[in-house]
Amino acid sequence: MKTRHFLSLFDLAPAELKRVLRRAAELKALHRRGERYTPLLQKVLGMVFEKASTRTRISFEAGMAQLGGSSIFLSPRDTQLGRGEPIEDTARVLSSMVDIVMIRTFEHSKVERFAACSKVPVINGLTDFNHPCQLLADMQTFIEHRGDIRGRTVAWIGDGNNMCNSYLAAACQFDFQLRIAVPPGYEPDTSLLKQATDRTVLLRDPLAAARNADLIATDVWASMGKEEEQQQRMRDFAAYQVDIQVMAQAKPDAIFLHCLPAHRGEEVSAEVIDGPQSRVWDEAENRLHAQKALMEFLLLGEAS
Ligand code: CP
Ligand code: NVA
Repeated sequence: MKTRHFLSLFDLAPAELKRVLRRAAELKALHRRGERYTPLLQKVLGMVFEKASTRTRISFEAGMAQLGGSSIFLSPRDTQLGRGEPIEDTARVLSSMVDIVMIRTFEHSKVERFAACSKVPVINGLTDFNHPCQLLADMQTFIEHRGDIRGRTVAWIGDGNNMCNSYLAAACQFDFQLRIAVPPGYEPDTSLLKQATDRTVLLRDPLAAARNADLIATDVWASMGKEEEQQQRMRDFAAYQVDIQVMAQAKPDAIFLHCLPAHRGEEVSAEVIDGPQSRVWDEAENRLHAQKALMEFLLLGEAS
């Protein structure tokens, strides 16, 4: 079986993504019933984290344990990566000892360089460019609450960051309309915008973006690595908070998603994130189920 990687949503065909999400729902039900399912016995996941994480680490580590395998947490502080060992050398060594790798880092090219030298599947656990695992969980959450997302309208409000880029890829792969409202200077990736041009509208007004939307999504104003821009960004994004006025523009049954961690009173009001339309806790939990389905797919392929 050819080694498959998951560095972006485009690495799986739309039918494969659907299959992974169907499987994620099955694995969730199995887990809820307390049934043991251990197809990855003895498999080892190597996890490289060059940025902080709560959900990604826990969901991968718990997920691998539940599937019968184990995982190793690696940070630059206590590996040779932090002392300048080339990513290619790390990839060759790590992939000769573990069965699957997950990486969270800054430059997207680092994940690509790692994958190019890896003998085993590599999963992107977030880069400055994108966060495809989060989109699996977001899509699973929308589908479980509102059904098929094909042809629906999604509003992205806030920063044109790694999550916004991932929504652009999702609009292409899951076939929905995406309205993006970002302040000038904070637009998402130009080539992704071009790729999704028939499904995307770029706006400045969050209320216009939210009108009749089925899903409203946002994320922090200052992502990891942008902390020193926090004050400037607070000013630039002041008009981009997802509050009840924004939610009121959307369809009455619209849901609100946020990948977390969230800053109440900045990108989202407490009323919205803690309110009746928010599905953020299901979204966070679905990281576990979606990534279990993804690891099963990458390691067992047709056998899963
Ligand atoms: N949403 C997400 O990836 O969370 P963490 O940064 O906690 O992993
Ligand atoms: N855009 C955020 C997502 C965190 C999960 C960041 O990169 O920090």
